[in-house]
Amino acid sequence: MVQAALPIDLPPLVRDLDLVESALRSSVVADDPFLEQVAQHLIKAGGKRLRPVLTLASAYAGGATASDDVVQGAVAVELVHLGSLYHDDVMDESMTRRGQPTANARHGNFVAIVAGDYCLARSAQIAARLGTAVAGLLGATIGRLCEGQVGELHHLYSPDRPEVAYFTSISGKTASLMAAACRVGALTTGLSDSATDALTRYGDRVGMVFQVVDDILDVVATDEQLGKPAGNDLLEGVYTLPVLRGLLDPAIGEELRAALAARVDRSGLDRVRKLVRASSGIESAVAVARGLADEAAAALAPLPPTGARREMAGLGHVLIDRLPL
Ligand code: IPE
Ligand code: IPE
Ligand code: MG
Ligand code: MG
Repeated sequence: MVQAALPIDLPPLVRDLDLVESALRSSVVADDPFLEQVAQHLIKAGGKRLRPVLTLASAYAGGATASDDVVQGAVAVELVHLGSLYHDDVMDESMTRRGQPTANARHGNFVAIVAGDYCLARSAQIAARLGTAVAGLLGATIGRLCEGQVGELHHLYSPDRPEVAYFTSISGKTASLMAAACRVGALTTGLSDSATDALTRYGDRVGMVFQVVDDILDVVATDEQLGKPAGNDLLEGVYTLPVLRGLLDPAIGEELRAALAARVDRSGLDRVRKLVRASSGIESAVAVARGLADEAAAALAPLPPTGARREMAGLGHVLIDRLPL
């Protein structure tokens, strides 16, 4: 799996992420060594740690350094993310994640679900220590993750999936947690209501960019680049923005619609991925992501003009620029 450089270049970030890393490892300890090993497995496999980056950067943008509470907040958020990954890989029947076999591939769905639950439980304990605002926020966010994930199931294998259903789903399953990551950074730093709300809106918009980019990657990248199976959304019948936009291409739409309606299997996957890549769907989805990245940057306007704000403002576009197009 290719590990990219940090998407935000701020001096304290490297050190503070080290603190997050060791706190994360010590947060998932269990009396049962097997449970501990399975629940630690994804932590040790790496990952971009983008949500902790957002929590830390939000504290910096408010003029603060990362206190112990901010670090613990970042850990609580990453644990929600980890829990959602264990569960998502069961839903998507995915065999690899972060370049490693998934827990469901190794140990079956039951163990993977319990490992995900365990991460959520540890997150809730940490959040409770940070106060009712953080605990309530993360509880509500887990609810939104569930709504977003289940919303996807209503339109599986449908080439007529409405775009609004797509956007509602990614807002719940991905953007809500990035918004919470930023909000936790603001809450644990004690920022003003207006700065807290601005950072929350920013996290939401960056989260939307992030999922659109992830959905484009499913069509354009390799397993090796992703550390998870490329094309899995197509196989699982989750038709995402680049695909829905590809259907609107007059030259390719009809052929693509027939392939999607018939359901894509492993032997047809290459052909369908090529069709989407040859359509205007990728370019069109990138344009949507650019617009969302601009909205993210604009959301930061109420914050003081610091280096942290500048770096955060560029993040959406950095994520898009890294697409292997
Ligand atoms: C994967 O998130 C789930 C999505 C929201 C697409 P990441 O791509 O941030 O996963 P890791 O943490 O780097 O493995
Ligand atoms: C995942 O969306 C959303 C989560 C909340 C985990 P995806 O299904 O696109 O995530 P990947 O591609 O498996 O990482
Ligand atoms: Mg998935
Ligand atoms: Mg994906």
